[in-house]
Amino acid sequence: MKIIRNKTKLLKVIKNVKNLGFVPTMGSLHKGHVSLIKKSISQCHKTIVSIFINKPQFNRKSDYIKYPKNLKKDIFILKSSKVDFLYLPTVNQIYPNGINKKINIHPFKKDLCGKFRPGHFEAVTDVIDRFIKIINPSKIFFGEKDMQQLKIIEDYLIKNKINTKVIGCKIIREKNGIAYSSRNLLLSLREKKIAAQIYMLLLKKKKKLINRKISFNSIKEKIHILGVKKIEYLKIININKIIRPYKKNIKNKIFISYYLGSTRLIDNI
Ligand code: PAJ
Repeated sequence: MKIIRNKTKLLKVIKNVKNLGFVPTMGSLHKGHVSLIKKSISQCHKTIVSIFINKPQFNRKSDYIKYPKNLKKDIFILKSSKVDFLYLPTVNQIYPNGINKKINIHPFKKDLCGKFRPGHFEAVTDVIDRFIKIINPSKIFFGEKDMQQLKIIEDYLIKNKINTKVIGCKIIREKNGIAYSSRNLLLSLREKKIAAQIYMLLLKKKKKLINRKISFNSIKEKIHILGVKKIEYLKIININKIIRPYKKNIKNKIFISYYLGSTRLIDNI
């Protein structure tokens, strides 16, 4: 695996690669990231992974500072996964003239996480747009764990006629049902147990919730009793209807965001 920190060098190395797969990450890699990497390796000639903790997309300074960093372990995981290139850009290479405040994205940005994280999806789309302009990959891989992110970027690329295809990848979960997330490293054992119980509860009640046989409030109450102080949202959305690419079949998902201690977790089931 080639580790590249310099943009000019990167451009040289990938110049003649056809069918390049790109997996953008913020590091602290886990099995969720590895599933995206495996998919890219299976579909593309070469695979490039980036690790870049994108400051503008964080709403709280403390969240940015606390974000876990494990570069040594990440490099080991990437080498074992047979990744071709690791790109570790500096802030200056990505933002030579600062961030793009005028980026125009789908109004879905205002729903779910967007309600609580103003500017977050603009910042994510901005950084991905910058990476795509440098790397020009054939395919870019995103996890359904961050479904709203995946959909907003897919819509942005279609709308702006950018020729990189978005490939969505299933959520990878731990045995107890918790979706792998870099932020899980910040959870205590007790908090992890609660997160697992919440997943089981939502899985069990999904049908009833969709069919309005039980109320959102009764589920929220149960989640509070499990030990959660703050639920940001609990919502069902037919993701195929709300944003491009529209599809006829109904894909109802429960979306949730809640806090365990000071750690914010999201999931969709
Ligand atoms: P990060 O949180 O590192 O996630 C990188 C990719 O891994 C995202 O596409 C995310 O959806 C996917 N992923 C994370 N956990 C997963 C899981 N349990 N199963 C499947 N996929 C999972 O998302 C970001 O970084 C950033 O916003 C980024 C896109 C890199 C832009 O800065």
